[in-house]
Amino acid sequence: MKSIKVVYILLIGYTLEAAKSNEPVIISIQGETPPSQSPLRNISIVGNEFMLDGVPLHILSGSVHYFRLPAEYWRDRLRKLKAAGLNSVATYVEWSYHEPEERQYSFEGDKDVAAFVRIAAEEGLHVLLRPGPYICAERDLGGLPYWLLSKYPNIRLRTTDKDFIYETKVWMTKLFEQLSPLLFGNGGPIILVQVENEYGSYGNSMPYMEQVRDIIRTHTGSSALLYTTDGASSSYFMSGYVPGALTTIDFGPGFNVAKGVKILRDFMPEGPVMNSEYYPGWLTHWGESIQQVDTADVVATLKTMLDLKINVNFYMFFGGTNFEFSSGANYGLTYQPDITSYDYDAPLTEAGDPTPKYYAIRNLLKQYNFVDDAISIPTPSPKGAYGIVTVTPKIPLLSNVGRFNLGKKYEDSTGPILPTFEHLRQRNGLVLYETTMDYAGGVLTATRPRDWIYVYVDGKLQGVLNRIYMKHMVDINSVENSTLSLLVESQGRINFGSRLHDRKGILSPILFNGKSLQGSWTITGYPLDNVESKNMADYEGTSDLSDGPVLYEGEFVLADGQGYVWGKRHNLGRYWPGLGPQVTLYVPGIWLNAAPAHNRVQILELEKVPAKLTMEFIDYPILNRTQPVVYSAT
Ligand SMILES: *[C@@H]1O[C@H](CO)[C@@H](O)[C@H](O)[C@H]1NC(C)=O
Ligand SMILES: *[C@@H]1O[C@H](CO)[C@@H](O)[C@H](O)[C@H]1NC(C)=O
Ligand SMILES: *[C@@H]1O[C@H](CO)[C@@H](O)[C@H](O)[C@H]1NC(C)=O
Repeated sequence: MKSIKVVYILLIGYTLEAAKSNEPVIISIQGETPPSQSPLRNISIVGNEFMLDGVPLHILSGSVHYFRLPAEYWRDRLRKLKAAGLNSVATYVEWSYHEPEERQYSFEGDKDVAAFVRIAAEEGLHVLLRPGPYICAERDLGGLPYWLLSKYPNIRLRTTDKDFIYETKVWMTKLFEQLSPLLFGNGGPIILVQVENEYGSYGNSMPYMEQVRDIIRTHTGSSALLYTTDGASSSYFMSGYVPGALTTIDFGPGFNVAKGVKILRDFMPEGPVMNSEYYPGWLTHWGESIQQVDTADVVATLKTMLDLKINVNFYMFFGGTNFEFSSGANYGLTYQPDITSYDYDAPLTEAGDPTPKYYAIRNLLKQYNFVDDAISIPTPSPKGAYGIVTVTPKIPLLSNVGRFNLGKKYEDSTGPILPTFEHLRQRNGLVLYETTMDYAGGVLTATRPRDWIYVYVDGKLQGVLNRIYMKHMVDINSVENSTLSLLVESQGRINFGSRLHDRKGILSPILFNGKSLQGSWTITGYPLDNVESKNMADYEGTSDLSDGPVLYEGEFVLADGQGYVWGKRHNLGRYWPGLGPQVTLYVPGIWLNAAPAHNRVQILELEKVPAKLTMEFIDYPILNRTQPVVYSAT
């Protein structure tokens, strides 16, 4: 295990039989769609209060993103949120989750956002909907689909650019086909709908905000109230607000609440005060220490807000996981990819367990009569420590393109700038660029790697170029006619700030000893959406390991019946224990087969490829490994 640097784990399940689970299993999540003819319900703002059919509502909400956990667990998390004393749930809607490729929509299973909203209603919760179109959320491209950058190479996201506005309209129409019946005025639980997301931190175009507001209002009418969210500063409000939507504020524990209220009141003299992102925890990037927020501070600032009758939404109440290639990145002094876990140090852990923070919040809310004692207090669910599993090398990724359909050939390129992932229409995963060298030995330079590039000469790893550590040069040992292979990994598109248009690939010319390489390049894509292939089942595996990325595979049987399978394979996300602080990956029980069925696990190791690897299934997470960040790929 110690030699593993960067890998992806994919778990393969079989068929659903005799499912039983330690988590509540949802037999049917298709609730009745409320008839649109139902008696009109009225949500409005009266003075400084939200009013639902004439009854004031003090919103106490928690964020839970349906796209960060399997649908089978939605009810469980929402019930726990309700049991803590909250009366509402907030969720972003992630455009790229539902339209990963242009006009290929999905609203089923884990992507059935309407079912999530219905379950919230069944659990007695109101819903705050945050449909963006941009959401940030520490997701790839802030939740926008990558193909916007493909279809419109010059698009300006989050502006009045007609292409962006057009695509936003098309998307919102599709989304509200799902959600319109669930708006409060139509008998559903959605009371508030957010316009854009913290736009004041990005731009200051009122026409843009008005256009987004109008697109959303076309669908919501007066059936739900609109709001905006911005940081606690009048300049953010000035840039981020839009007439017709309530301005709300966001800040975390320890912030001077009275000061926050004053800043907001100076801007908005009347209307409900709402902290629509109150941070009980925080996000973490690869290579940092895990972010943690002290429970006493969370409770103290919450108490101040309750005393002032401020409406609150916890961001996050349950964080969940960035499965597959969904995690985004920030850019501070350098590129900062987000870890796979979105535990967030939230009141409920990544596995859905209540923490001391959860109980402390519940105790406080009880004093304010928010807690319904009829709902039982949740306790942690059992975990499986299934022990050590050995995986053995199966397929060297780069040398078996045709045989296993793991890669696909794109058109050759003559450079000097190579086509990006977006140009190739590949969302994420890996792209391999290969050429023949004219001359021997020297220094290879690429100043804009996006993001992590393994450099091979004749199949031998020479080193990496990368964005995180701004490593732009590598010495290589080549001879005349050597094959140069550059394997480029996207580590997540930036989700916040001015570098949002974050294309992947190699954005600068590739120089060898200061000169552009002249030959033509062959290009192979590895989207890794699916690592299943018929031919693989009978393939014995390899003992002939080169340096390159290798797909490992192993099988195991659970010691007892804890988890149950849900269907096809699931990519558990990126794993990078050498950099940390996240060391373990969360495996939802629902994605495992009970004994005596076998479970298959696959790991794509990108770097070091020993004859076998071991992995261990343990019953607690390790997200907090601290160590000096010294990274060397050679
Ligand atoms: C909704 O409620 C508000 C405040 O109680 C009231 O002013 C408004 O007329 C109501 N709207 C409808 C359509 O009933
Ligand atoms: C390199 O390839 C060229 C073109 O195929 C060939 O003419 C030349 O002999 C090769 N050089 C070596 C050292 O193999
Ligand atoms: C990591 O967290 C565990 C569990 O909370 C704790 O026991 C351990 O001391 C922590 N380690 C570090 C390095 O902070």
